[in-house]
Amino acid sequence: MAHVRSLFFKQGPLTEIENKAVQASKLGRPSEVIWNITNRCNLLCDHCYMAADANAKPEQLTDEETIDIIRQMGESKLPLLFMSGGEPMMRPNFWEMLTEARKQDIRVTISTNATLIDRETAKRLKSIGIGYIATSLYGPEEFHDALVGVPGTRKRVVEAIKILREEGVGVAIKTAVSKDTWPHVYDLIQEAKDLDAGLIYLCDLITSGRSEQGEDNRISAAQWRELADFILKDTLETIESGEKSLEYDIGAMPSFVPYIAEKLVELGYDLTDTLERLKIMTACPVGKGLMNINSEGGIMPCQFAQDWTIGNIRDTTFRQASDNLLELRHTPVTGKCGECEYLHICYGCRTKAWHAEGNPMGEDPTCMLDPEFQRSERLVRMAAPCCAPGACS
Ligand SMILES: C[S@@+](CC[C@H](N)C(=O)[O-])C[C@H]1O[C@@H](n2cnc3c(N)ncnc32)[C@H](O)[C@@H]1O
Ligand code: SF4
Ligand code: SF4
Repeated sequence: MAHVRSLFFKQGPLTEIENKAVQASKLGRPSEVIWNITNRCNLLCDHCYMAADANAKPEQLTDEETIDIIRQMGESKLPLLFMSGGEPMMRPNFWEMLTEARKQDIRVTISTNATLIDRETAKRLKSIGIGYIATSLYGPEEFHDALVGVPGTRKRVVEAIKILREEGVGVAIKTAVSKDTWPHVYDLIQEAKDLDAGLIYLCDLITSGRSEQGEDNRISAAQWRELADFILKDTLETIESGEKSLEYDIGAMPSFVPYIAEKLVELGYDLTDTLERLKIMTACPVGKGLMNINSEGGIMPCQFAQDWTIGNIRDTTFRQASDNLLELRHTPVTGKCGECEYLHICYGCRTKAWHAEGNPMGEDPTCMLDPEFQRSERLVRMAAPCCAPGACS
């Protein structure tokens, strides 16, 4: 996960909450939870990593258990909770969970397919204090509706986005980047701007759930570099012109961060603060305060690896589970990532290493850096793990 504007330019809609998350990670506290609160869904997307369908899982957490967990999150001063699914709004006590989370002063983002959002729902979300709704678009109408398996979906999503913006709720647009969606990615970026979304989340295809054998459907490292160059150019242009610009968030492609950092060093930007922040919360946030909980209470270091479980929340406390996940950062990384000068700011995608080798501390097989990529002495020195705060320049 990498928010380009807030990470490199300390501006953008998520700067404040990111600072809180980094601070929590620095103090050895949970920084961010992604909670797939149900596996039930009214869509049937081809690529769904949760393999969500019309049925909730038989061992789904009870309503009482969900409220107890949220109270524990509040006691641990969790800054940020993503309520995801399946379709989170299909969980019968969704509103109760949301209300309790806000009571605990936890900032909540809802990751939803938006098909259940009408004006009344949007007003309710606003009044409860939801800053952001993250919803998915994949391409033009026919393509989108075929991918999600339900005709008419795209029209409903776009209508929901317009209503949310009219009611003052922030919108993030997400897409899974694959060979299928690649022809539409630049149009989606433009559409996000036209729809007044604050953020676009572009996530590399994860090979689990209904995408389990999907390695061949990933775009190439060269295509990721092309996309990164576009994102940097667009961000710099809008910053320079002072116009409102989109925040880009990159998922499951942590090498995007050293790639952009090198470009900015070359352009003369001072990245001292960025690098210090990255050494606390690396581009891949596994072991740095991120926790995933699934609908049955399974605890995972990352939502994209549902079979890399470290236990069940029913058998432990939220705080203990978080402490156990933080221990992961002490396990040495091997392979190409283990030898890489950018390891301490990038960390490689631990989930992709897990899927590729069954070893989460192995190498990320999708590094977007070209083998000939020029590593500057300056960035390599700043990315080393030895610097005391303020000494990286
Ligand atoms: C699992 S869904 C849950 C929330 C909601 N139902 C939705 O679709 O927005 C969360 C996000 O994960 C993305 N996603 C699902 N499977 C994926 C995969 N295999 N690789 C990358 N992203 C994926 C979806 O596109 C969606 O944006
Ligand atoms: S990606 Fe979201 S909307 Fe699509 S099937 Fe999975 S949970 Fe449902
Ligand atoms: S080799 Fe690994 S740690 Fe180095 S940039 Fe690539 S993904 Fe990141």
